[in-house]
Amino acid sequence: MGSERGSVELVNVTKRYGDVVAVDTLNLEINSGEFLSLLGPSGCGKTTTLRMLAGFEQPDEGFVRISGEYVQGVPPYKRDVNTVFQHYALFPHMSVAENVAYGLRQKGVSKDEIGTKVVEALDMVQMSKMATRRPRQLSGGQQQRVAVARALVNRPSILLLDEPLGALDRKLREEMQIELKLLQNRLGITFVFVTHDQEEAMSMSDRIAIMLNGHVEQLGDPETVYERPTSAFVAGFIGRNNFWRGVATENGANADDQTVFVASRPKENVPTGQEALAAVRPECISLSATKPGASSNVVGAKVAGVSHFGDVLQYVVSTGSRDLLVQVSRTDPARFGVGDEVWCSWSADDVFLFSARQASLVLAGTGSV
Ligand SMILES: Nc1ncnc2c1ncn2[C@@H]1O[C@H](COP(=O)(O)OP(=O)(O)O)[C@@H](O)[C@H]1O
Ligand SMILES: [Mg+2]
Repeated sequence: MGSERGSVELVNVTKRYGDVVAVDTLNLEINSGEFLSLLGPSGCGKTTTLRMLAGFEQPDEGFVRISGEYVQGVPPYKRDVNTVFQHYALFPHMSVAENVAYGLRQKGVSKDEIGTKVVEALDMVQMSKMATRRPRQLSGGQQQRVAVARALVNRPSILLLDEPLGALDRKLREEMQIELKLLQNRLGITFVFVTHDQEEAMSMSDRIAIMLNGHVEQLGDPETVYERPTSAFVAGFIGRNNFWRGVATENGANADDQTVFVASRPKENVPTGQEALAAVRPECISLSATKPGASSNVVGAKVAGVSHFGDVLQYVVSTGSRDLLVQVSRTDPARFGVGDEVWCSWSADDVFLFSARQASLVLAGTGSV
């Protein structure tokens, strides 16, 4: 672990800019050949982390290993990595092939070798047919592919991508997500992919490092970070949740709004009597016209809104003191309209309970408490 070609290791890495701690005692191991996303809100230190891997910045503390080698003081061009930036800035006066060849020319690589490598790199992104075009004769997606080819031309074992799809519109962005993922599968090299978009990270990654305030808050595969968030911040940042503030009891929490008792086993060690934040995902709440008997959490509400999203229906229901978000499958036979009286119920097993320490962060991030 940590010594293979294509592996990355950050150990207790800290980077400061004046008083700002951009990266704070960050620890992360990335496996060779994996697609790992750094995901987090703006300013959490994603770009700074990537720049330390690329060699554009040096850590103030801690160390970085790339393909098993300590890289303190190793300049960017001598590292086994290359970067695709958000603003990938192709040279407008050069052809596609010249853009891809540029780095190799600078290094004094022979003309023959450049020719072969450029063809290979353009083949990888299916752009060989457009080798003689100028960037302005390409669509946004094609320009992005050229930027990727330019980064791959040296055959790095790790590709660093800093919000590479940020400038593209939604549809193109989704197409490029699939394309990049297929490319990574085909090449088998490590991708370290920075994004603030949780859906993007969820759909593309083998594992996601969710970052907050310069450190890794949780590291795991998409399913795990969704189903077993270890902090309120992660629960609010990945997918959606209904949150309750309250006080932890022996087997759950008494919510502040008095109307709901949220039963669950306290997770993350929230001691009884302490302020807690309980969370239930919208798809874990069931709606029914008659009061269900068995469920551990039952509350009456009135439907305030219904939205259709292809395969799911989303309800906003009001308990009188708050709104809840409920998501059901379109194939669910029970349908409700605005104004209908309904019963909401959910199982104790679907309740997360966290220390209230991070409540303000969750509030800021999702607005759903
Ligand atoms: N060159 C710099 N000089 C001063 N502060 C910086 C610099 N680069 C980043 N920062 C600060 O470090 C923090 C992390 O920034 P960054 O790594 O760019 O976050 P992200 O990419 O997650 O949005 C932010 O507070 C940012 O303002
Ligand atoms: Mg950034």
